[in-house]
Amino acid sequence: MTASPSVSPLSAAARSDGARHVGGMSFREDDSIRPLVDYSKLSADGTGASKIRAAHQVYEHLVSLWAPAIIEAAHDLGFFAELATGPRSVDDVATARTTDRRATRVMLDALYAYGLVTKSQDGREHRYALPEAYREALLPGGLFSLVGKIAHDRNVAWSAWSNLARTVRRGTRDESGDDRANGISETDYEDLVTGINFWAPPIVDVLASTLTENGWKAGEPVSLLDVGCGTGLYGQLLLERFPHWRARGIDAPRIVPLADAQAARLGVQDRFSGVVRDIWQGGWGEDADLILLNNMIHLQTEESGQKLLQAAANALSGDGLVCIADQVVIPDEEAPQSRFAMLFAASMLATGGGDAHSLATCDRWLAAAGLERAAVLDAPMHKIVLARRIGQSGFPAA
Ligand SMILES: C[S@@+](CC[C@H](N)C(=O)[O-])C[C@H]1O[C@@H](n2cnc3c(N)ncnc32)[C@H](O)[C@@H]1O
Repeated sequence: MTASPSVSPLSAAARSDGARHVGGMSFREDDSIRPLVDYSKLSADGTGASKIRAAHQVYEHLVSLWAPAIIEAAHDLGFFAELATGPRSVDDVATARTTDRRATRVMLDALYAYGLVTKSQDGREHRYALPEAYREALLPGGLFSLVGKIAHDRNVAWSAWSNLARTVRRGTRDESGDDRANGISETDYEDLVTGINFWAPPIVDVLASTLTENGWKAGEPVSLLDVGCGTGLYGQLLLERFPHWRARGIDAPRIVPLADAQAARLGVQDRFSGVVRDIWQGGWGEDADLILLNNMIHLQTEESGQKLLQAAANALSGDGLVCIADQVVIPDEEAPQSRFAMLFAASMLATGGGDAHSLATCDRWLAAAGLERAAVLDAPMHKIVLARRIGQSGFPAA
């Protein structure tokens, strides 16, 4: 496994061949998922033109369901592992994975249609292969593997989404009528946290460069606290960049060993310690210079979000910073991060509670905790809100 946390979207270069090259791999220049409708073939006028266009668009949304079904079945069947060993014919794959030959051909062509496998002619048969670029995402064990996300879909998401209408009728309130925070189980988090590691590098890139550009403690000893750390990757990547920093990651008993193991894998185990603790039971310590609340506020209700920010304020050093990287809805609701956040809110709803909170809500929580927003940064699928104590001038450095 080659971890490449330093590959940033900023290093992606569009070249004259129309492809975007990232880390030696070729991607579509606009990075879009391959379109399934050729809208140029639809008439702009004539009877029902707008209705027919709209029907194509709705249908295109509806068939998005096919993608996880096909990708996850291919994972379950071991197709990706098989194709990773080299170009394979339909017969090769069907024999190795004991699957039906025709059905295997349909699946391999479907994966090819999504651009996830290559297909080449070899004499009278086709050979399919898993491109290098997708190995880390589709095979288990890599730092940025999505296999945990697939397991989460299998165990939680599929049934949750199929019950969405019922959830919307009832809402996510408990017996006493209070709104519920998201509460998937610790075992479900074991899958999920590894499957969202890929979010961390671009967030750490922009966070680290903003802190450095603003003269914030790059060369000083910093005590970092990662609350609900998951695998701990955010803190660990920051430790790689800032050799004087130390990090503690708080999480549940089944999750902390994952974080400790990953710290060892990245070679920062001497400065990273995982701590088993229920975040609502205190014990965050005090005088943390940088507190990460990454992908934590979308799990919260209005009330628990406020409690989380107050706990962060209580544990923060005088000139410390709180970093919230999350699905925060900003006033520009057309921004990709806002649109993703609004869909993410539906995902939280489907799985039992939580929300994508607005920047205004974050500001309210911060103010009530004696904190104020110092910066809002962009990551591909997140907003990053940096906050300091009200009136504290440590960031940006004077
Ligand atoms: C959505 S994950 C985010 C993980 C990590 N911060 C990240 O961004 O990849 C939420 C994390 O919070 C942890 N968590 C949730 N409730 C917790 C609690 N009461 N005490 C400790 N950890 C908790 C979960 O175990 C999980 O690792």
